[in-house]
Amino acid sequence: MKKLRILMDCDTGTDDAIALVCAANTPNVELRAVTTVAGNADLCFTAPNTLNLMRYIGCPVKVSKGAETPIKRVLSEIREKVDEEAGQIDTHGDNGLGGIVLPEAKDGFYPLDAVDTIYEEAKACGGELVIIATGPLTNIANAITKHPELKDGLIKKIVFMGGAAKGGNTTAVAEFNWLCDPEAAHIVLMSGIPCVMVGLDVTEKAEISDEFCDRVRTLRSNGAKVCSEILEFMRARRDTHGGESTLMHDGLALAAAVIPDVVSCRHLFVDAECDGKYTFGHSFVAFDNRLGDFTPNCDVALEVNVKMLEEYMWDCLIRSEEKR
Ligand code: RIB
Ligand code: CA
Repeated sequence: MKKLRILMDCDTGTDDAIALVCAANTPNVELRAVTTVAGNADLCFTAPNTLNLMRYIGCPVKVSKGAETPIKRVLSEIREKVDEEAGQIDTHGDNGLGGIVLPEAKDGFYPLDAVDTIYEEAKACGGELVIIATGPLTNIANAITKHPELKDGLIKKIVFMGGAAKGGNTTAVAEFNWLCDPEAAHIVLMSGIPCVMVGLDVTEKAEISDEFCDRVRTLRSNGAKVCSEILEFMRARRDTHGGESTLMHDGLALAAAVIPDVVSCRHLFVDAECDGKYTFGHSFVAFDNRLGDFTPNCDVALEVNVKMLEEYMWDCLIRSEEKR
């Protein structure tokens, strides 16, 4: 069976890290590259978090540095809004990884930046590359802008964690990744590249159970250990500050690419609101197309099978154990 060839673009981040451990331990998946972007924390954290994590779990995949800032917005203002409005301590801890400090990688970042790594991998995979984006879409948008031929079949699909058909987790109407860079989201959604939106509609239902967390604590591989520490950080925050719990936002985006039946989708028109005073960052989903104004451009995930997600993640962690 032909392997699924993927590139992950992450703002590592606690839930990004769990998704990366699973991606590195999924059978029939070839993780071609990981590109990094600022989001949960500045790039000076998210990039080394990613490189150190991949080496800590024994994965030699190329890791590239990407955008330090969104196309237009100011990250620090967005993150202040999260903390202020949500009344939460920073969801991902001081360093983006819940304060977890990993051994420093012995090698460095890939010489190409994220944009050129995406282009290099898309060409190398001859149109079979699937991109899984778990942070702001800045790198993907910049790659499409710099290399417009990426829109002509060089990228098979973009599965992104972001947006919400209803509600938001940063403002009342905007999800964090899209609020950071709505201009990037617009470029990606208008590109014509097949997209799957794994938004809050499903990720806020993808809460990992305490029973699962307790099982993970019994494992000993480096991958399982870092996942367990992150899950414990998430549970501790939930118990002391409320708000986000063990929500697998990014893990579900990966699962939606690898085991698509984990979510059920509708093909709808989606675009990012970039100009609204109160609504910038909102993901407009045209459920009502009675005037026929909107041509569907995205598979929007609306239901999730959490049991299937946990089973997939458990299989990945057991595979990580078997590599010890
Ligand atoms: O809104 C949730 C998303 O924002 C997740 O990708 C999380 O890692 C943060 O980047
Ligand atoms: Ca993320």
